[in-house]
Amino acid sequence: MYQTDARHGLTTLTDQDEIAACLPDVTQLYLDASADLTAFAGLLPPSAFFDLYRGDLRSPGARLVKAERGGHVVGFGFGTLLPADTTWWRSLVSSAMPDSFTHEDGRRTFVIRAVVVRPACQGLGYGTALHDALLRGTGTERSTLMVSPRIRPALALCEALGYLFVGAARPEGTDATYLSMVRSEGSTAFHRRPRRR
Ligand SMILES: CC(C)(COP(=O)(O)OP(=O)(O)OC[C@H]1O[C@@H](n2cnc3c(N)ncnc32)[C@H](O)[C@@H]1OP(=O)(O)O)[C@@H](O)C(=O)NCCC(=O)NCCS
Repeated sequence: MYQTDARHGLTTLTDQDEIAACLPDVTQLYLDASADLTAFAGLLPPSAFFDLYRGDLRSPGARLVKAERGGHVVGFGFGTLLPADTTWWRSLVSSAMPDSFTHEDGRRTFVIRAVVVRPACQGLGYGTALHDALLRGTGTERSTLMVSPRIRPALALCEALGYLFVGAARPEGTDATYLSMVRSEGSTAFHRRPRRR
């Protein structure tokens, strides 16, 4: 466990038991953020997210960043490294990517599974700070995520952070279509758009 950003009250957890212990806080926050179903259409249903979280917290490179304010968790980000035998890129449905793109070696790509900020704290830079802390020190060549085109704030955040659209993706076991996004790491300061607020 280590502090990563005092301004946003961020703590990064890489120990699997510590990540598991955060499940109640993360669960509550996810439920609160999902309450506005209109705004969050396209977000994984809470039950599916909990299964994903429980399954992935034991994956290599799993890390959780939580943001605390006034003693309460107001945001979190969660992600893992893509393992060498990942099926992640098989969910791409709109475009066939070359092997050189989809090849994974367990260290190449960090996948961001979720970034969630309590509605009252949105627009204050928490999403950006959580994202940055998740990637800090991973040493990966690139990061990736899937975002629903219907969640406009999430899509806007991805674009502001310099993610590029790779193709439409339909993860196994879902009917929903997401946008698969990728960002090359190493020149973050160059491709990030300046903040407007
Ligand atoms: C998406 C989310 C994490 C953004 O968090 P946030 O703390 O509000 O983000 P930031 O304050 O760091 O915003 C950074 C940039 O994202 C974009 N952005 C964020 N929210 C936006 C909104 N409502 N409308 C337009 N652009 C938005 C802007 O470009 C913003 O930069 P600016 O402030 O300079 O304009 C937050 O809205 C959220 O938790 N939503 C619900 C859960 C969700 O959909 N998560 C993503 C899928 S897991």
